[in-house]
Amino acid sequence: MYQFTDDNGYTVTYSYDQHPFSASPAHVFILTRYNGQWVLTQHKKRGIEFPGGKVEKGESTLEAASREVMEELGGNVGELIYIGQYKVDVEPEIIKSVYYTELESLTPKSDYHETAGPVMITGDLLKERFNDEFSFIMKDETVRLSIEFIQHELDGG
Ligand code: GTP
Repeated sequence: MYQFTDDNGYTVTYSYDQHPFSASPAHVFILTRYNGQWVLTQHKKRGIEFPGGKVEKGESTLEAASREVMEELGGNVGELIYIGQYKVDVEPEIIKSVYYTELESLTPKSDYHETAGPVMITGDLLKERFNDEFSFIMKDETVRLSIEFIQHELDGG
């Protein structure tokens, strides 16, 4: 378990365990890559962040992850790999499951819901995410822990 305080002063607890806080979390967050580049979305209010959002009624966590990636990026997910889960001690509490996927395709769309569509990042995202145009969510330790999981466990680095 990892614990830290986010940009808004809330306590966040992150774990690589299988669904430690909820077997059916209300939120998902998906780290996506396509052709070796990170693919994020331009959220109209918060700025650049990985796709994600709320699980809808009757939907599984994986279905929500796949839908959010299509809505916000126009991307078709490949295998969705579970990375971890985190809890934000805001009222009401937020629990998010974090996944990684390598996109199978990325097709331009006319509408990307609350976002302005995909943003490709080629540089070092662990550093770039602190720039002003990135959302507060990207500054969380949760993002560092998730990227490190991908680098160490999936990329073999
Ligand atoms: P809607 O999506 O329109 O309901 O708006 P919202 O942003 O108020 O809802 P949401 O339930 O997504 O988030 C409520 C609050 O929880 C935010 O204002 C943040 O303080 C916090 N929060 C949500 N997601 C995250 C996250 O990934 N990381 C951190 N640190 N805080 C989060």
